Amino acid sequence: MADSLEGRLSVAMVEVSEGKEDAFVDIARQFSAVMAKKGYGRADIVRDEASPNCFYAVRHWASATAAETCHADADIQALTTQLYQIARVTHVVNGVRRPDALRLLLDDRRTHIEPDRRSGFDRRVKDAGRADGDRRKGDRRLGPRRTRGRTGELDLVAAARRARENADARFSHFKVGAALEAADGTIITGCNIENATYGLTICAERVAMFKALSEGHRAFTRIAIVADTPTLTPPCGACRQILWEFGGNLEIVLANLTTEQASHRLKTLLPLPFDARLL
Ligand code: THU
Repeated sequence: MADSLEGRLSVAMVEVSEGKEDAFVDIARQFSAVMAKKGYGRADIVRDEASPNCFYAVRHWASATAAETCHADADIQALTTQLYQIARVTHVVNGVRRPDALRLLLDDRRTHIEPDRRSGFDRRVKDAGRADGDRRKGDRRLGPRRTRGRTGELDLVAAARRARENADARFSHFKVGAALEAADGTIITGCNIENATYGLTICAERVAMFKALSEGHRAFTRIAIVADTPTLTPPCGACRQILWEFGGNLEIVLANLTTEQASHRLKTLLPLPFDARLL
């Protein structure tokens, strides 16, 4: 299988929470057994010698289709959900990314030359003339902007910034974009959509999550949330609940239109969560 032209490789760096190493090894063993039993391929884990909490999950897929079937497999999804409760996963090599996801990613790299954000109901229309002393005054550069953080974060934040352009915030004029990363590396975006009843408004984060679920994704790593405010916008309570129930202890990356970024874990934003385990 490894020699076949059909074969695909993916490698993820897994940073396991302290004390959860045995639990991780157990999950990895089960993952590997399901992959072998169902003919998806072979999975190995390699421990990073320099940092004992860090592992590399190396997956040799029988084919790109096998990888996709595996990601949609309920047993695998249950294991992946468990994994994300105890570890932070960063995709290092993704040989099975679907072409549309790849295109999205490339487009998003380009969006660092950001689309015109002065159109529509964007709050920036009102803010265009900034007060003296406002550090964003005159900040109208068209070139790429430097973003702190990992490369993956950059892509995710760029995708959220781009999604924000589609927000329909005609009542609040507060546009939000979100980009959710699924376990297979696919990025699913969302923006807030308001309507005349106000109350039926749906936030960017839930749009992204519901879109992802409806496309068959069941395991997630991170979500980036972008608004055009100097103070970064965290997810509202309703979104925290939905993100927790469907995404587990996600990494939450907050950013605005310039370079500011902060990273949180959902568990710290939603302590003592209510979920199906309590029913
Ligand atoms: N909103 C989001 O989309 N996400 C958040 O995290 C906070 C709030 C939206 C909902 C509404 O359309 C507008 O922002 C103002 O609350």
